[in-house]
Amino acid sequence: MTEPTSLTSALHALLERAIRQAGGWIGFDRYMALALYAPGLGYYANEAPKFGAMPSSGSDFVTAPEMTPLFGQTLAEQVAQALEATGTREVWEFGAGSGALALQLLDALGDRVACYTIVDLSGSLRARQQQRLQAHAGKLQWVGELPEALRGVVVGNEVLDAMPVKLLVRSGGVWHERGVAWHEGRPVFADSPTDLRPPLEIEGPHDYLTEIHPQAEAFVRTLADRLAAGAAFLIDYGFPEREYYHPQRHMGTLMCHRGHLADGDPLADAGLKDITAHVDFTGIALAAQDAGLQVLGYASQARFLMNCGLLSKLEHCTPAQRALGLKLIHEHEMGELFKVIALGKGAPWEPLGFAQGDRTHTL
Ligand SMILES: C[S@@+](CC[C@H](N)C(=O)[O-])C[C@H]1O[C@@H](n2cnc3c(N)ncnc32)[C@H](O)[C@@H]1O
Repeated sequence: MTEPTSLTSALHALLERAIRQAGGWIGFDRYMALALYAPGLGYYANEAPKFGAMPSSGSDFVTAPEMTPLFGQTLAEQVAQALEATGTREVWEFGAGSGALALQLLDALGDRVACYTIVDLSGSLRARQQQRLQAHAGKLQWVGELPEALRGVVVGNEVLDAMPVKLLVRSGGVWHERGVAWHEGRPVFADSPTDLRPPLEIEGPHDYLTEIHPQAEAFVRTLADRLAAGAAFLIDYGFPEREYYHPQRHMGTLMCHRGHLADGDPLADAGLKDITAHVDFTGIALAAQDAGLQVLGYASQARFLMNCGLLSKLEHCTPAQRALGLKLIHEHEMGELFKVIALGKGAPWEPLGFAQGDRTHTL
């Protein structure tokens, strides 16, 4: 495994070169793409452990499937209905991390899934996933990019938040794009004039920092383009645009995670920590609709999982398992900040996860 210091210095050299080649300045989205995905060096492309439930295992953050198998077991109820409604036996998972969710879904869905395809930008996770998913080896395949046409049920947990964002800053009433330059041997923020704007006008004259998500929206458009039949369930933290671009959210949502601690400095320790931004679900829904998908539902994770039967599963759990399962739906844990959006191609149908508490109208 590459040592953290040599990893950081190799990534620094790459960043410096990229910035110099671009004339001294790159957009933050380019910086984030390199810091997270530069082959062998970026956070998701290097070999350091990052997934897991506890910092002691080398994990930097905990996701729902890492926390409890109840997440995948409950999502499986929705995936089973979607497979039947769309007449497919294929599941496609984007950004499968350690393979935890794949294992939970494959165990729960049994013969209802004939083929499970993992799509990830990070090749370094593949070996780990192969080992964890050995019992289902005959059904699994890995691809680096999407085929021309796919049929199936797509799932992605905490994938949209890992896609590079652009930073916009309003200072003294004037908008700039915040990018990255190189100064005295390290990356520094630098602002450049721009015509880019947030999708909503930000009320008030105060200084304001925020993000826009062209890559996440392009991802959804590509998905729409390639999905010949089926549905997609994307789960992540975020809000509709009215909340995202609220005048009071003047510091944006960009955040880094390392060793289960959050910090706000994405330019420090590149390659050694996760960089994320919340998801603008209105932007995702509009991109999907523009590209020919229907929004089948949008709800909090709590509502979605309860509609899919989490509470009855909790009845059969030990107190310790139940406590973890409840974190998925408690408002102050993952229940309210995390949302689920469902997108579909073909004849409309009603996913059970949105039977009550659908908030599509808030997008
Ligand atoms: C925060 S991790 C989530 C991992 C896992 N889904 C979980 O819940 O534990 C984000 C993952 O998304 C992957 N990713 C980011 N952009 C992607 C894209 N365009 N296509 C496929 N995977 C992507 C990253 O490589 C990383 O593995």
